[in-house]
Amino acid sequence: GRCRKCNKFCKKFECCLEQSQGATPSAWTRQQAEQIRITSANAAPIIEEPFEDTAPDLWVWDTWPLREKDGSIAVLPGGWRVIFSLTAPRSVLPGKRHDIATIRYFYARDGQDWIPGGVVFPEGDALGSRQWAGSAFVENGEIFFFYTATGRRNEAQVTYEQRMAFAKGEVFSNLNGVLFNNWEEHSIILVPDGEFYQTQEQSSGGIIYSFRDPWYWIDPESGCEYIIFEGNTATPQQPIDRECNPENIGDGDFRSGNDVPDGSANFNGNVGVALLQSSDYREWELLPPILEADCVNQQLERPHIVYVGGRYHLFIVSHKFTFAPGLDGPDGLYGFVANDFRGNYVPLGEGGLVVANPPEEPFQAYSWIVLPDLSTLSFINYYNLDGVSLDQLPSLPEQFIFNRFGGTLAPTLQLSINGTETQIVNELAQGLVMESSTESAPFTPRCERDGNCGD
Ligand code: FRU
Repeated sequence: GRCRKCNKFCKKFECCLEQSQGATPSAWTRQQAEQIRITSANAAPIIEEPFEDTAPDLWVWDTWPLREKDGSIAVLPGGWRVIFSLTAPRSVLPGKRHDIATIRYFYARDGQDWIPGGVVFPEGDALGSRQWAGSAFVENGEIFFFYTATGRRNEAQVTYEQRMAFAKGEVFSNLNGVLFNNWEEHSIILVPDGEFYQTQEQSSGGIIYSFRDPWYWIDPESGCEYIIFEGNTATPQQPIDRECNPENIGDGDFRSGNDVPDGSANFNGNVGVALLQSSDYREWELLPPILEADCVNQQLERPHIVYVGGRYHLFIVSHKFTFAPGLDGPDGLYGFVANDFRGNYVPLGEGGLVVANPPEEPFQAYSWIVLPDLSTLSFINYYNLDGVSLDQLPSLPEQFIFNRFGGTLAPTLQLSINGTETQIVNELAQGLVMESSTESAPFTPRCERDGNCGD
């Protein structure tokens, strides 16, 4: 249950919960998504060969930096920046990597020449049959680590259940390098409730299910601590019996004049939220999503927020193939902006599109993550396909596939944002993570500052 003892933390929880009461998700509407266009402001430069391999023997894909609690990039004693990546041996076909993903870390003083640190968790510690994307922060020499536990340990065949997990360990860092050790037992902290967020069972009949990619985030205006994540909206009906709600289609004239293609209601991606409920980071309460893309897109992947200029910039990554019928968007980084954490998020860029793969190389990169200085990290995905579709790939010779998957960090892109306008202003070194701090914030629950937290 909720806080048993009303200590200081309990007050914070109750007051943060209050702020979410009655909140409704913002919608990424069909009307907005129809505005998606690739332009000179959002098309990424073509990634030219040759490029470097972040790890010569490993595929490297989804990556996140070690952060301070406030979201800034951590610099550890010895001067190290650290990144975590999903990895798999280069001996497996790229498509197989998701089934054996292992989180490894890399460290570099220049945030660029990454030294492999090895696996993050000792063999047998982590939950799931493999681990998918997450986030991590460091505080007083301890690391707080959130990840997706996919499948079950020792399962006979690969399953796709997704739960969110937490582990806490110690950080050892000096001039010689970085080590993580003394991990406490891992816990499952979030499973879908079936009310706000679809369970795997409820999602049968839909395309691809998600309950993953926990991103720890403290709201600098309220001090409330959240995990935001990729989910699907639960409804009492089976996906197939659903209809699109007017608010997901658009407003007034657009709504009435719009025939939504059949099957659109099967698409129900959202950005989920959970509120921290215990000071040990192991108890969280699921809240209604902050953004939903019902009837628009099935997967709003790796959601994260960057607070700049006093506004909340929410980013997700998504694929061409997860847009609902009648909508077309490239594999790219999409963003939204609001004045409050639970405010009305409106699309950035063109219908939300902030970084697009260029039309000549539609799958060259993926899994962008925007850092506090608006630089953006991603990995090199499939390139040089010359018109071959991703569906055709598996039937082609293995060597063809191996030669067309990057599995390494992509050039970092520098973005600029002005209101809802965004632009790629620079292409930087591959995998570069710059030192960057977050806008300063009070980190006190609003009710505490206002003196009305109750007892
Ligand atoms: C994005 C993603 C994440 C997931 C990971 C699995 O590229 O789909 O949502 O955690 O890849 O490999």
